[in-house]
Amino acid sequence: MAKNSLFLLPGDGIGPEIMAEVETIIAFLNGKGLTDFSLDRGLVGGSAYDAHGAAISEADMAKALAADAVLFGAVGGPKWDSVPYDCRPEAGLLRLRKDLGLFANLRPAICYPALADASSLKREVVEGLDILIVRELTGGVYFGEPKEIVTLENGEKRAVDTQVYTTHEIERIARVAFDLAKARNGRVSSAEKRNVMKSGVLWNQVVTKIGKEEYADVKLDHILADNCAMQLVRWPKQFDVILTDNLFGDVLSDIGAMLTGSLGMLPSASLGAPDTATGKRKALYEPVHGSAPDIAGTGAANPIAMIASFGMALRYSFGLIDLAGKLDEAIARVLGKGLRTRDIAQKGEATVDTRAMGAAILGEFKALLG
Ligand code: IPM
Ligand code: MG
Repeated sequence: MAKNSLFLLPGDGIGPEIMAEVETIIAFLNGKGLTDFSLDRGLVGGSAYDAHGAAISEADMAKALAADAVLFGAVGGPKWDSVPYDCRPEAGLLRLRKDLGLFANLRPAICYPALADASSLKREVVEGLDILIVRELTGGVYFGEPKEIVTLENGEKRAVDTQVYTTHEIERIARVAFDLAKARNGRVSSAEKRNVMKSGVLWNQVVTKIGKEEYADVKLDHILADNCAMQLVRWPKQFDVILTDNLFGDVLSDIGAMLTGSLGMLPSASLGAPDTATGKRKALYEPVHGSAPDIAGTGAANPIAMIASFGMALRYSFGLIDLAGKLDEAIARVLGKGLRTRDIAQKGEATVDTRAMGAAILGEFKALLG
């Protein structure tokens, strides 16, 4: 088997702790000869700033660009609250997304039956939930120019962010959502704010056209993003694939995460366009949650979103569908047996630490592999 290269960027806070659980799983897979991953590790976020004075070094950027896939933990923490804006921990992640061209962010929100009571919503609202948020990741207000704070003649300040989308950017993310919907339940809900934003008007037009001309077999609905937020907490099972822009996707996916019981449960994949020569996509996999500096080092972190993100890497970057399915099943079984990290425990329930959760998932995974 050809060596597949993984570049690990654990980052800050709980990032290294949850990444360690993935490394244990990779060591097992390589040891068994089921995979042949070569690993390299780098720094991103605050840890990179402390070492190199930048949120990611040029050397690590080059490694990320060369790798078959990047596994990313989390960045940020109060320690770096006052570093220069361009060096803030999040800048490392945003640069990776932009320079690797990772325009398609897939955020599946699945409510494991065992966790239906961990959600802040009623069991019947979330039980069996399986939706996919497809978020545009390299455009919109995150990257639009101008992006600045200027001082006006009267001494007042004026801050500008720019929400901008081109036809091409909308078309390519729409195709990702339609293609994924075809392999699921065949429905796309496109969320924007066409009632107040020109970018929403264009988004709506382009998605409608792609749907009509290329995906007549997929049912397309348009929904205003604020209504989408409301519907997500009212009756989320009405959705299959939600297609949305960078900023709305950021907000809607945090809602999606809480439907599953905890932010600690939601994995994500960020994919680029297929290379014209090799067909391979650049890819980065990361949990949706942040670096949780308040619990870093306490063993309370939930490694599931990180492990499930690695599962997405197996599926989307390496075509190891069977292994990915078994890893997901291992997570479901461990939850079914009642293991809980603190974030997904009910009042009074016993909890396990990060390592014990990782070890239990690896144990079930081994059993499933026979
Ligand atoms: C996310 C995060 C990031 C974002 C931050 C860390 C820059 O919230 O991936 O959802 O806003 O995209
Ligand atoms: Mg977010």
